Amino acid sequence: MVLYGRKAEVAAIDRLLAGARQGQSGSLCVHGEAGIGKSALLDHAARAAESAGMRVLRAVGTETEAELPFAGLHLLLNAYDGRLDDRLGELAAPQAAALRGALVGTLGGGRGGAAAPGEDRFLVGLATLTLLSDLAEDRPLVCLVDDTQWVDQASVEALVFAARRLRSEGVVLVFAQRDDPEVVPIRGIPELRVAGLAEQDAAALLADLSPDLPAQVRDRVLAEAGGNPLALIELPRSVADEGWSPVSPLPIGHRVQRAFVSQIEALPARTRSLLTVAAADDSGEIGVVLRAARMLAIPVGAIEPAERAGLLTVTGGVLRFRHPLVRSAAYQRAVLAERSAAHQALARAWDEDQDADRRAWQLAAAATGPDDEVADLLERTARRAAERNGHAAVVAAYERAAQLTTDPRDVVRRGAAAALAATDAGQFDRAAKLTDRFAKAAEDPADHALLAVVRGLVEFESGSPRESGRALICGARQVAEVHPGWSGKLLVIGVHNAWHGADAEAVADGVAQLRELRLPPDDPVVPYIGAVEALARLGSDDVPGAYPLLRAFAAQARDVVPKTDWLRQFTAQLLLIAGQDPALVHQLASAMVADWRGTGQIGHLTVGLHHLAYAQILLGRHKIAAVTAAEGLQLATDTGHRPITAHFSSWLGWLAALEGDEERCRALANEGIRYGEDHQYPHSVLSGQWALALLDLGLGRHRAAFDRMCEHWRGWSFVASRSVADLVDAAMHIDCLDAARGPLDQVEEWTAGSEEEWAVAILLRCRAMLAPADSAEALFMEALSLHQKSDQPYEHARTWLAYGEWLRRRRRKREARTPLRNALESFERLGARLWAERARQELRAAGDRAASRKQKVEAAASLTPQELQVARLAATGATNRDIAAQLLISPRTVGQHLYNAFPKLGVSTRAELARLDLDAVL
Ligand SMILES: Nc1ncnc2c1ncn2[C@@H]1O[C@H](COP(=O)(O)OP(=O)(O)OP(=O)(O)O)[C@@H](O)[C@H]1O
Ligand SMILES: [Mg+2]
Repeated sequence: MVLYGRKAEVAAIDRLLAGARQGQSGSLCVHGEAGIGKSALLDHAARAAESAGMRVLRAVGTETEAELPFAGLHLLLNAYDGRLDDRLGELAAPQAAALRGALVGTLGGGRGGAAAPGEDRFLVGLATLTLLSDLAEDRPLVCLVDDTQWVDQASVEALVFAARRLRSEGVVLVFAQRDDPEVVPIRGIPELRVAGLAEQDAAALLADLSPDLPAQVRDRVLAEAGGNPLALIELPRSVADEGWSPVSPLPIGHRVQRAFVSQIEALPARTRSLLTVAAADDSGEIGVVLRAARMLAIPVGAIEPAERAGLLTVTGGVLRFRHPLVRSAAYQRAVLAERSAAHQALARAWDEDQDADRRAWQLAAAATGPDDEVADLLERTARRAAERNGHAAVVAAYERAAQLTTDPRDVVRRGAAAALAATDAGQFDRAAKLTDRFAKAAEDPADHALLAVVRGLVEFESGSPRESGRALICGARQVAEVHPGWSGKLLVIGVHNAWHGADAEAVADGVAQLRELRLPPDDPVVPYIGAVEALARLGSDDVPGAYPLLRAFAAQARDVVPKTDWLRQFTAQLLLIAGQDPALVHQLASAMVADWRGTGQIGHLTVGLHHLAYAQILLGRHKIAAVTAAEGLQLATDTGHRPITAHFSSWLGWLAALEGDEERCRALANEGIRYGEDHQYPHSVLSGQWALALLDLGLGRHRAAFDRMCEHWRGWSFVASRSVADLVDAAMHIDCLDAARGPLDQVEEWTAGSEEEWAVAILLRCRAMLAPADSAEALFMEALSLHQKSDQPYEHARTWLAYGEWLRRRRRKREARTPLRNALESFERLGARLWAERARQELRAAGDRAASRKQKVEAAASLTPQELQVARLAATGATNRDIAAQLLISPRTVGQHLYNAFPKLGVSTRAELARLDLDAVL
């Protein structure tokens, strides 16, 4: 087929293909209205790739398959001509199991999937990434997914997850998606928007295909088509058939669809009925369509006129409409009873066991009113989809089941199940709408509680922690009588969320309810009651009252391993909020991260990385924290975990401030601040503001740093307490010491309560900076000796620096040099460039010439964070495939990182790599 125009679009595709030949991967999402030429561009890609000897896999979405989980992925991978099963066997075990489970289930609903329940919904994406990378081993691989708007969400998610992580595998993924306000657009991969053909290209196409049009009609077709190729091809026919009507106000797709309707109306009645059946089918299997047709007494031969008219083709047992709009036309022109009969017949044409899901959906489509039997079947479909983590399909099946149900209690139960599944699928807007719809009718406390949980989750993820806390605490009240255990869990999470929203009232309310519950001593939330009570006290600024409780909680966390994933996360989270025992948090978070990497629980992993990065920052391990946070930010973005995305942004901004990367710091910190402001999330605002203040401080803009911190320093929070040392530093430089005393007193309460040595050391440094000359030095010395006992190199270096500055200002230059040199050395090792610069300036002022020479940058410091991460794992003897599975990238990308890292490290083998002490630079 000749393509008119489309130079830029073709060039974009050709560039991707050329890249693949060089081993680069790439992806593209082609957008545009119906008939604009998206499939034509995909055809071009397929032809070009095949003639260049690449492997091409294609899949097309169909409207009704959208609810069958992993149907699209199955279709795509089935196009592979080798032994897919062997390839699956080469994947890491959890990935293989997840992908097998996803694919096996799509072969027939009745067979069910092999995936373990509770598996992560992104694990299939990781498995897809590895598999595509493997399939591209011998030659480049091109995957083309057309009509993505109708591909089931589970498949799209898996493919997009893979697409975002492709680097150097030689894999190309191109999606085509029709613009439609109902459809969630694909995000995070490059977009190619296809618009109408340029005027002369449109005119040329029309002239070539309809050479005999009268000039007046030609001009009108050109005007109405707006460069849409399908309209340019179809409208002249309908003009001939139906005469000319004034320019239609309908969108071009509808206009063209109407043209198809008139073509169909011209066919014999039996053929029209057969087209209705074919359009109502979702499988394209000609055998099924003809079986159903026979049940409706439509003879097989009825298909011929439609084939002759070019409306559909049948090849290799598969029926295809010429264009999706032909299918829509055939379906929509039929009256309700006719469509219903077609669906009924199709349902009977499917096997009751093997194809239970397709059958259930067909029966649901046939139903014209409530039907409990069909609703039961759909509920079973929902359960099967849940077993395979096809969450979007679970939502659809439960939602439709609720519509068909008569008993109001079952309606709510199914509606609530749909809402919960929507949160699992990451569809928070849909979950919110479902809760609104069903909450009014809910009578059973269990349904209330479930809907409250959903609202709490939705609010936390996309609304505000404050609203989330309130919803959960309110839901807890409703089930307190019937399900005290459940109520307890809702309350601890609710209080925690309300705390994040700085909602002291809700925190207090939740804690009061928790006390009244009188849970049995072996209830899993009992050990957490003290900790949430502490939050209530902190919320009312009773810091001394909170600490005994928090210390007791930390002591117990050292001994008792929390039983469930959420309790583990919660333990780490509470310790972080309290600023208690970062080494313990580090230990807990490392273990969680390692476990979740192993099992591929990517959703949990994202949260675990957040705790780990925070603990690493607290311990002054900044370089590795940057690596952790960068990985976390990408994951959180990929998985749509928005509050966590904001946290990672703020922390990366804070680390960028230390490095003195102003632009990056601002961009990241402002992300965190914006999210916090939009979602009533004060802690997120505070961390972002601290990053910006730290930047100002490092750059010597003391007044700006001071003002910013004074503005945002309100109430007790761990971040606020930690940042007070910077406030004092700024205050000292601009001689505003008095303003820093109040906050520092509050920090003193915290420090006294927490009994953390490193915290006391920071406090002593601050006190020293504010102290009169005769008592300051003793305080510095005391601080330094405490630092010696706790492993916090960054804070230690800040105290060296402060002490050195203090000495130099008192003209004790010679004595100042040692602490300043210590500070410089630590800051350089930590990559805290701005602070190293400040130490260097001080040293020069103290008469140390050597300080003007930059220290030798360690070889490992020149590695990118990901290269460093890969190199560390390779040094432990892990294979590329192991590393890939752990870091959620493809084995080829691992190879590429090592290829880049070896020369930078001056090694050429893994054995040499293993001998390096890479951890030393972190
Ligand atoms: N540049 C072009 N030159 C010539 N014909 C074209 C061009 N682009 C598309 N066509 C033809 O126009 C018709 C519609 O194009 P196509 O099917 O690619 O649209 P689409 O964007 O995929 O629409 P839909 O969203 O409905 O799938 C097809 O018959 C196709 O061959
Ligand atoms: Mg198309």
